Amino acid sequence: MLTPIDRSRTAGRYFGAAVRFDQIAGNERLRDAVLRDCSSITPEIHMKWDALRPSPDRWTPGPADDLIAFARQNGLKVRGHALIWEQSTPAWAKAAIAGADWAVVRQHFEGVIGRFGDDILEWDVVNEPIDAHGLRETTFFKAYGPDYVARALTTARELAPRAKLVINDYSFEYDNPVEDARRASFLRLLRELRRADVPLDGVGLQAHLDLGKGALRRETLAPFLTAIADLGLEISVTELDVREHDLSLSLAERDRRVAEEVSRYLDIVMDQPAVTGVTTWGLSDSHSWLQPSGARGANLNRGLPYDAALAPKPMREALRSRLAAA
Ligand code: XIL
Repeated sequence: MLTPIDRSRTAGRYFGAAVRFDQIAGNERLRDAVLRDCSSITPEIHMKWDALRPSPDRWTPGPADDLIAFARQNGLKVRGHALIWEQSTPAWAKAAIAGADWAVVRQHFEGVIGRFGDDILEWDVVNEPIDAHGLRETTFFKAYGPDYVARALTTARELAPRAKLVINDYSFEYDNPVEDARRASFLRLLRELRRADVPLDGVGLQAHLDLGKGALRRETLAPFLTAIADLGLEISVTELDVREHDLSLSLAERDRRVAEEVSRYLDIVMDQPAVTGVTTWGLSDSHSWLQPSGARGANLNRGLPYDAALAPKPMREALRSRLAAA
């Protein structure tokens, strides 16, 4: 019998969660839950460019250092998140990038990988590169052209020769024209990178599930996963959580629906051998990025394994059983 998620070691797949050092340090119950359930953690914000270097002359690695020390002390792995992400690129860097000088990106990679690389087995090298049409027209795309993804991966490989290099993106789960197009767009990018022999080891599927987007269908999701695996790539579920749709139901019913969605998703995903593990985007509802600002009590979105008081919910049991069975 596996107790808790049992760090999911026995099942060969990892379980992890996104965390912030200040939240772990300030909340013993959260820290206990992380140590009980997780064999891996992802810094929710501390390793993003704007967190590490808010201005060219300010380098603020403290919280990421603290998180890595916590991981070392407790034998946790750390996913590196994220070297390039449009949304976390500080204005000063965007301005420098617009001058089309790759040295800005290279220096950023050298700084981050130089500082944390020894502890990071897996990097999200490019986060959210695609949209429904192809590559998203980010600052990086505009400055360096479509090759920037390959260039980022090549630079990362040079600086982190042993780490697994990953492209991470979202909205691949549901049956609608936008997500159909996003799946196709993502697969096109992966195939091109493969064809050009660019160093890429895996993909991250964020998996922000949403109870307002209709039913999850195996016929949609499984072939997408197979297509990724057929390219020889590993798959990590990197940011799992569930956005609720109807907050007027009883708490029990809401929690049941969230757990059911997670079960349905994992039942499909865990059948794909290329899937190496699952990370949720936080553990407790009180820290979820999905919360509308100021939401409290019954208005909190309940899309993570623990409630705001760190009591486990059915979603945790759904994860535990699917990871144990895998
Ligand atoms: C989010 C964090 O959870 C927020 O606290 C922060 O303000 C913005 O970023 N996709 C990602 C994550 O890859 O980095 C995002 O995290 C959520 C969406």
